Amino acid sequence: MTEHKIINGFSKLDRLQKIEWLVEQLNLDEVTADFLNSFQLAEQSVQNIIADLSENHLSNYHLPFSVAPNFVVDDKVITFPLVTEESSVVAALAKAAGYWAKRGGFHSKIIGTEKKGQVHFSWSGKPEKIFRSFPELKKQLEQEAAPLTQNMEKRGGGITAITLKHLPEIIPNYYQLDVSFETCEAMGANFINSCLEQFGKTLKSWVQTNDEFQAEEKETDVIMAILSNYVPNSRVKVWVECPVEELESDAEKAHAFALKLVQAVHISRHDVSRAVTHNKGIFNGIDALAIATGNDFRAIEAGGHAYAASSGQYRGLSDAGITNGKFWFSLELPLAVGVVGGVTSLHPLAKLTMAILGQPTASQLMGYLAVAGLASNWSAVRALVTSGIQQGHMKMHLSNILNSLHVSDEQKRAARLYFQDRGVSYSEVQNYLNEHAK
Ligand code: MEV
Repeated sequence: MTEHKIINGFSKLDRLQKIEWLVEQLNLDEVTADFLNSFQLAEQSVQNIIADLSENHLSNYHLPFSVAPNFVVDDKVITFPLVTEESSVVAALAKAAGYWAKRGGFHSKIIGTEKKGQVHFSWSGKPEKIFRSFPELKKQLEQEAAPLTQNMEKRGGGITAITLKHLPEIIPNYYQLDVSFETCEAMGANFINSCLEQFGKTLKSWVQTNDEFQAEEKETDVIMAILSNYVPNSRVKVWVECPVEELESDAEKAHAFALKLVQAVHISRHDVSRAVTHNKGIFNGIDALAIATGNDFRAIEAGGHAYAASSGQYRGLSDAGITNGKFWFSLELPLAVGVVGGVTSLHPLAKLTMAILGQPTASQLMGYLAVAGLASNWSAVRALVTSGIQQGHMKMHLSNILNSLHVSDEQKRAARLYFQDRGVSYSEVQNYLNEHAK
């Protein structure tokens, strides 16, 4: 690794100075600056929006913006915009959409939209004393947060519950204000964190001025105030279903396939090694749509994985079965997303995504995200229990291999034709090119 010096005040340099520093310190090629500049947008106003999304911006990092059409969700036909670096994901979603469009489409049901956050604090006094005074504290918390909650309340949201918890098993004298929120069309992270930080201040001064507390009980230490990305009560369920025979053109094959698929899903619900990969396949779809909408996919993933482990064992998030001759395949998971504010309202492609989705409400978007997860899961598990995934994956991967080997468009066309009915691997593509370059 090239050694380089620690730099102070890097963030204060302008973009070109930052690039210059990087090129100089890391002995990069002189053309690095031109290379980075070539990814900048010509339209300055849009470029400024992208640059302002992050600190220390040097250039733009491109990923494909794709679409998967033909999603039928609750009888509505929708096209899903998707952003992903994995070549097979969009194809998997498009395939699942077309397949289920002929079999009644996807169905969705919102189970709840409650978001949560906590003020973590320590207080050394008699627990029953703080619990006794809690209704009074609660009133003061609500009053002092009113300037922050007014607008959200006008939109039908706000703080919906405040609970005091004593958790000495974690740390002696440790308490939580466990707060529930309704954030309507917004993901609500800023709103929730602002309310919680205000709660921390109110709590501190309330404890200090409470006449019922002895002098030694007038101190409280607010450890932190932050929203939780674990939102088990902001949950959506999506599913597909059809008579088993309709799964395949041949009834016998359909039954065998349904049984195998149900077994595969069952394994994911009991074996952690399989569960993780199974859920990765679900998040292939959810993340791709979440990124396109400008939503925070790390928050979605963290909450989803925690929910997958909520029984004490990490399990596959989807479920499948055969009931009275009907095959069903479902996914239930927590999702906290917004359709206003943040990157969703700023990034031009996120705005276009919302237009393509028909300007959904936050609840509708929860459904679409879960549908994207179920669709990618369907295609992955379907391939796994039939042909295996490598066949499809490597075909999609062929383009990446050809690009990495810098072949001409004509050679690409010829190679695609040649590999149409053949297995693809890096060495096979290389061998093929060596032979055909002669
Ligand atoms: C690959 O990105 C995802 C899969 O591994 C998911 C799965 O195994 O279910 C195909």
